Formats: sequence, C-alpha cells, structure tokens
Amino acid sequence: MRVVVTLGDVLRRSAEFLAERGCETARLDAERLIGHALGLERIELYMHLDRPLTEPEVAAARELVARRGRREPVQHLLGEWGFRRLTLRVDGRALIPRPETEVVVERCLALLHADQEPRVLDVGTGTGAIALAIADEHPAARVTAIDSSADAIALAGENVGRTGLPVELLLHDLFTGLPAGPWDLVVSNPPYVVPGELDGLAPEVREWEPHAALAANGHTEAVITGAAAVLRPGGALVLEVHGEGAAAVAELLREGGFTDVVVTADLAGRERVVEGRRPADMP
Ligand SMILES: C[S@@+](CC[C@H](N)C(=O)[O-])C[C@H]1O[C@@H](n2cnc3c(N)ncnc32)[C@H](O)[C@@H]1O
Repeated sequence: MRVVVTLGDVLRRSAEFLAERGCETARLDAERLIGHALGLERIELYMHLDRPLTEPEVAAARELVARRGRREPVQHLLGEWGFRRLTLRVDGRALIPRPETEVVVERCLALLHADQEPRVLDVGTGTGAIALAIADEHPAARVTAIDSSADAIALAGENVGRTGLPVELLLHDLFTGLPAGPWDLVVSNPPYVVPGELDGLAPEVREWEPHAALAANGHTEAVITGAAAVLRPGGALVLEVHGEGAAAVAELLREGGFTDVVVTADLAGRERVVEGRRPADMP
C-alpha cells in the first residue's frame, strides 16, 4: 500500500530534523526550503498542508533539507537573497549580505544626500551588495566597486547583469592602495573577524563562506589609510566594523585626521557602522 505523505507531514518532520542538527531557525528554514522545492510562497504552504506530495516533490524537498542539515546556508540553497530593495544571487563565491550592512548603505545615502552626481567607491564588494544598493537608491551616483577575489567579482558581475544597475567592477587588491579618485564617498565592509575567532563561528559561516571575506589582516586600517589618499576634501568614509570594534575604529579615524566621526548602531542596537569626513586641510 502506498503511504500518503502530506505537505504538513514533510514540514513538521523537516523542522524536527533541522532542529536536531542544530539549526537555530529550523521551522523557518524548513518552510523556505520546501516552499522553494515546490515553487510555493511560504504563506501558500499553509493553504495546502493536507496536500499529498508526489515522490519527485518529496525527493526535491528531502535533498534541500538534507543539505541544510549539513549546515549549508539557506541562502546558498535558495540561490538568492534580499538586500534592501534588491534580490541578489548568492553562493559560496562571496559573503552573504547581512542585515547590518543595510545600515551601512543607509549611512552612505544620508551622507550623499546633497551630492548631485557623487563618485562612490565600494572596497571589498563581494556580491556587489553595497555598490548595487547605492546605485539603486541614488541613481545619479557613479559607483565603482573593487575586490581582490576573482570569484567575488564574477558573482558581482552576475548581480550587475541581473539588476541592470550601472556599477563598474575592478579586480583590485586594496593593499596596493585604492583606485585614484577623487571619490566623494568610500565605503567598505572589510574582513574583520580576528584570528582565533573563526573557529567559534557557526558552521554556516566557518565552513561555507570564503575565509578571505572574513579573516581580518589589517584590512580596516588599510582602507582608512587608502581612503584618506583618494577622497576629495570633505568626502566621507563609511566602514562596517566588528561588533566589539566601533570605539577603536572611531579612534583610528580621528587619529588619521578624519572629522565628524559618528558611530551608528544596527537594528539590534550593536554599534556596527563608523563614518568620518576627510577635512579640507588633510595633508
Ligand atoms: C566582509 S566581505 C564584504 C562583502 C560585501 N561588501 C558585503 O558587505 O556583503 C569582505 C570582502 O573583501 C574582499 N577582500 C578581502 N581582502 C581584500 C583585499 N586585499 N582587497 C580587496 N578586497 C578584499 C573579500 O573578497 C570580500 O568580498
């Protein structure tokens, strides 16, 4: 006799399985992955809980849930993820854009508010998230984005194609100095995980995201020095920082001659964004 498996059964068992595997958002993950496998929105799942699934549907759902059980990020399994108004392609070639980085974009847009056609440089662009969001939300901005990872630049290029937004991409190592400006704004979410911290990160990050996007090796300091050389007088630098690092980075900016240094908290109240301005009289 053929056993009937309903959508509700699969959702419940998948959520239990993922919880046993240590996934913190097991139920939500199960809903997203099974919805993806069946081509249904999450809300639609609840309208069809009694629907029997076909064998191919069960197999497709099982494959995604099994991969999630090995702690592959949900975002990689879905292949795309939302960042501000955009839906970007995401995979193991670059960091998955995070909610706190949306606050970085918020600060950039606030600082660019009065500029007519600002020139913006995004340092370490990954998927292109920051650069593309600025180009999307400040259409007059002329945005360039650099990364030293050819994989990241390729993925960002796919996101440029997908969104149709005009962002110039360059394969460029920030330790050789930043591309010549003058830039009205330099923004960066540099690698800032300190040595020894990597082992304590969640498996989704430690095992599936590029270590070159995570491990700090003087990146923040190099961006500050580089930005001071290529910003126009009065231009702004915006940096995402480690959850414990805002005060230290703010001090680095002041020591580097930057003025108007401001620290902004993310939506969880953690100080994650530091900004400053290059004064007119900076040597
Ligand atoms: C934390 S990720 C940020 C990605 C993206 N901007 C975001 O916010 O989602 C840091 C990025 O910096 C890049 N990167 C690391 N070292 C670099 C270097 N020396 N020069 C340029 N980019 C670098 C990594 O490849 C990675 O894409």
